[in-house]
Parts: sequence; structure tokens; C-alpha cells
Amino acid sequence: MCGITAYVGHQDALTFLLQGLEKLEYRGYDSAGVTILGDQKLSTVKTKGRLQDLITILKAQPLHGHVGIGHTRWATHGVPSNLNSHPHSNADETISIVHNGIIENYRELKDELMAHGYTFQSETDSEVVVQMLDYYYSDDLLAATRQTLARIEGSYALCILSTHEPDKIIVARKDSPLIIGEAQGAYVAASDIPALLEYTKNVYFLEDNELAVLKADSITFYNQQGQAIQKESVEIPYDLEAAQKDGYDTFMLKEIYEQPHAIAETLRGRIHENKVYLDELQNIDFNQYHQVYYVACGTAYHASLCGSQVLQKLTRLPVTAMVASEFRYNDPLIDEKTLAIFVSQSGETADTLAALRLAKSQGATTIAIANVLGSTISRDADYVLYTCAGPEIAVASTKAYTTQLVLLILLACYIADRLGFVLDAKLLEELPHISDHIAHLLEDHERFAKYAKLLEDQRDAYFIGRNLDYASVLEGALKLKEVSYVHADAYVAGELKHGPIALIEEGSVVIAVATQPQIASKTINNIQETIARGARVVLFTTAGQEVKNVANTYYLPEVPAVLQTILVAIPLQLIAYYTACIKGCDVDKPRNLAKSVTVE
Ligand code: G6P
Repeated sequence: MCGITAYVGHQDALTFLLQGLEKLEYRGYDSAGVTILGDQKLSTVKTKGRLQDLITILKAQPLHGHVGIGHTRWATHGVPSNLNSHPHSNADETISIVHNGIIENYRELKDELMAHGYTFQSETDSEVVVQMLDYYYSDDLLAATRQTLARIEGSYALCILSTHEPDKIIVARKDSPLIIGEAQGAYVAASDIPALLEYTKNVYFLEDNELAVLKADSITFYNQQGQAIQKESVEIPYDLEAAQKDGYDTFMLKEIYEQPHAIAETLRGRIHENKVYLDELQNIDFNQYHQVYYVACGTAYHASLCGSQVLQKLTRLPVTAMVASEFRYNDPLIDEKTLAIFVSQSGETADTLAALRLAKSQGATTIAIANVLGSTISRDADYVLYTCAGPEIAVASTKAYTTQLVLLILLACYIADRLGFVLDAKLLEELPHISDHIAHLLEDHERFAKYAKLLEDQRDAYFIGRNLDYASVLEGALKLKEVSYVHADAYVAGELKHGPIALIEEGSVVIAVATQPQIASKTINNIQETIARGARVVLFTTAGQEVKNVANTYYLPEVPAVLQTILVAIPLQLIAYYTACIKGCDVDKPRNLAKSVTVE
């Protein structure tokens, strides 16, 4: 998974390409490169390492030209290296491409091209695309592109330029994001909207198997059959500022502090006089379903675990939450009476997208919960609800998670209401005030920084909870691992005695969440078992619980139990954040991770 940019216009292309790549670095950052077409030749500069390394080289050796493509890479085929970096060019350097996605049949295509005398510079799957373009090119780049795409299996967002036809860039997509922007005297393209916003708010979404030919003053779209088609541009409702740090040291911290606002936005217009309004779903007859699946990856899966438990509790429908990469290969029981809910911040995660397509093909009704407007998952699902978190840049998800929780709780209430169940009025009364509680929790950041200090010299941490608290600790442990590299495991508190307690020794750090009234005292008892073995415990619970011997106990505000999942996320995020800071980690760009995972 990678980020790509393209520019064709009347200005220096490099300026757009580099600012765009900066915004896309979250998609991968193990190498970067650009190709500029100027003076009838292609000049490519690419290097292993961060984008900054590329910028340093380009400062000493600037490239000029009005047409160009750029790439920031997250390695899938071939180690991060100068040669494996994009753009890739053909041998006589007349055609150059950047690619995001995976060419699944690249070995077979490579063998075929080698039999025709082609030699390969890199170990990447992407290089077959440019060699194949070279093979098919006679005098029409669009025709060669079509012939090449017809041979490719897998996913791609592609930008292609050539000295043979120096006034254009051809872009194409299938199962990887690509957005085109109409700027002043230029057409631009990129993997994600923030890369375009400095230049334009008017964008076109390319659908799977569509192509576009971008020139400085015109754009033509083509469908899979090669017919020219018309497309309407869409105006993006947020600005670039929203995608920048706004005075915070890191995007992660900024995004943690944005949660009261993001949640208020997500709730906007959704609750009125204790009733939930999700008008996007009004045409669904929920009585037809005999089961519900929640499918997602990573943090979105943890939100789904919570959402699924709430729905089952409210409706008594059989509900299953599954990790998307497992769902597809687990022979799921899907039919027309299945409702399947797909949760994804980016709306582009390959496993979630594939699971959605599987569920659809087998007759399920599909609902997407996504954050990115116009993303593939949001467009492919039968129905979509958007979390209104705004752009989330830090790799570790924070505001997307809590807004997902909010929307999933709303969805559970909505379905229950539509099925005729009487809702807990307190829950809907309290939900609109949840942002205020979060704002108060954020004021306590010093206490959470103090808890993070306990982890300063630790290699491991143990998170425990039961029921909904288990989903919360799974997410707390994931946050800590992702940004601070402290190994953290989350356990159902009742399972401690069946194995994990063997690991507890003098000084171990245990983070416990006990907010669910029917089960909190049991978790608090489990804590005593760890204290007896020397553990230092941080406990998040609610007033009224009897707690003994736990020096670091934090009492969360009193809200209905379901909503504690949202509140406790805040201190757990901040503990992870401060631990990462103490350890000097690159919080926004943790090693080996990427924000949007468009490979299986
Ligand atoms: C990546 C990100 C995680 C995210 C997961 C699912 O692994 O690093 O933060 O939770 O993908 O992403 P999605 O965009 O589908 O929510």
C-alpha cells in the first residue's frame, strides 16, 4: 500500500507532487520517488527512506517540468530499496509509472516479458506494468494502457506518463483509491483527498475499471469498454487546515483532543427527543434479518466488538463480530436474511472490502460505517453511515475509534427501536453530553501521563476487563503496542488464572477496566490476585465500586454503562501516547505500520 500523486498543468509539477506526498506519507514511508517530464525526457529521482530524504536530494538536484508523478511506498513485494522504489520506467526511459496495489499475476507476466527479451530492474510486482506498456506501445498510450490493464489481475491505482505523448497523464484504478482534482490550470490526482486540498476542492472519484486522461486544460473519462463517459465533480466540504497539526506536537495528540468535537459532529442531527434518526437506513425492513455480522480490522474491529455486543443485548438477535481477514475464509453463513455491517475508518482496507463484496455476492444487506467520504467501502455497500471524525492522519486510530463507537451505539439503538424494543431513555439522554465528559477527562491528562511513567522501563503490560470492558482493553493494548512498542496483551479478566497470571511478577504493570456494573467487582477481585504477586495496577472504574489496595484508581464520570466504552478510550489512548513520548518513539508513524492497509 502506497501513496501516489500526479500533476499535469502549467506550473512546476514537483511542487504539487511533494506537498501531496507529504500528506500521503501515512500510507507508507519506506521509500519515495518522483518522475518529471521536461525537455522531452523523463527524469526520475527515488530513494529508500522517508520522504524527507527524497526532498534533500531534490533540493540539490531540482527537476523542472509541467508533468510529473510521485510515490511514497510501503513495501509489499521487494524490500525497501532504491531500485524497488517507484516510479518505474521502461529501459529507454520513455514511459514511467507509479502504482498502488498488488499485481497478483506478476510472476507469470514477468516470465512472459522476459521471454520477449525484457530485463527487470526491481523485485516489485509494479515493474511488470511499465514493461508491459512498453511491449504494447506502438503509437497510442491509451491503447497500450488498455491492453496492459486487460492482462493484469489484482488491484491498482496507476498513473502513467510518457515522452511519446508528453501532454498527458493516464490514470486508472481497480480496488485501490485514486481521486482526481480539477485545479487552476492543472489536473491533479492522488490516493487521498488531503493531498489535493491545497490545490482544489473539486474532485472526481474514479470508479473501478475506469480510466482518465488528464491534460493541463481537459480531462476525459473512459469506462471499461473504452467509451468516453461524463462525470460530475464533487466539492469536498472540509479544508486543508483540518488535515494539519494545529499547534499540537503530533497528529495523534491533536486527534485525541479533537474527540469532543468529532463526536459532537457524529451525533449531529441523530438524536431528537430520545429517538435515534438514521434516515439513510429508513428503507431497510430490519424484521427480515435472522442474524447480523460485524466485520472490520484493527481498531475498527474493536469498535465492532463493542457495537455487536450492544446490538445483541438490545435486540436479542444473534450477532457475530469478526476480523475481516478471517471472515472471508471462515465459510460464513450468509444469506438474504443476513445483515452485515462493515466498519472502516479509511473505507479502503482490502480485507474489509473483500469481505463486503463476499457478503454482498451471497445476498446479505450491507451497511458501511466509514469515515472517508467517497471511499470504496462506502460506495460499494448498500447503505452507508459516516462517522464525522474529519481526516485522521496519525497511524494509530483515536478519534475514528470513538466516533465509530458512537455511531455503532446509535445504530444498535436505531435497529432496536425499529424492531419495536423499548430503549433505555437514560442512554439516549446522556449520549449528547458525552463530549463534555471527554473534555473533562482530557483535563486530567497529567494523571494519565503519571500512569504512563509506570511503563517507562517495562517491556510488557497486561490489560484486563470483562464484557464490554474487554473490547476496551483490547483497544488499549493495541494503542500501547502500536505507538510505544511495549508488548501489551489484553485478557478477559476471568482467564487470568488459566495461564497469563504465570507472567505476573514484582513490578509488572496491569491496566484494568471495570466499568460494567454486573461484572466490575469480579474484575476488581482479579486485580487482587495480580497485586498479591507484585503487580502495579492502574484501575479505571466507576464510583460505588469497592476498591482496596489499588493506588492508581481512576473513577470515570457516571454515565450509562454502554457509554463507558467511549470514555475509557481517552485515558487508554493518552497512556499509550505518553509512554511513546517517554520512550522517544515516532508517535505518528510507528515502524512497520501504515494508516490505510490496501493489501490483504
Ligand atoms: C491499519 C491501521 C489501523 C486501523 C486498521 C483498519 O492497520 O493502522 O489503525 O484500525 O488499519 O483500518 P480501517 O481504515 O479499515 O478502519
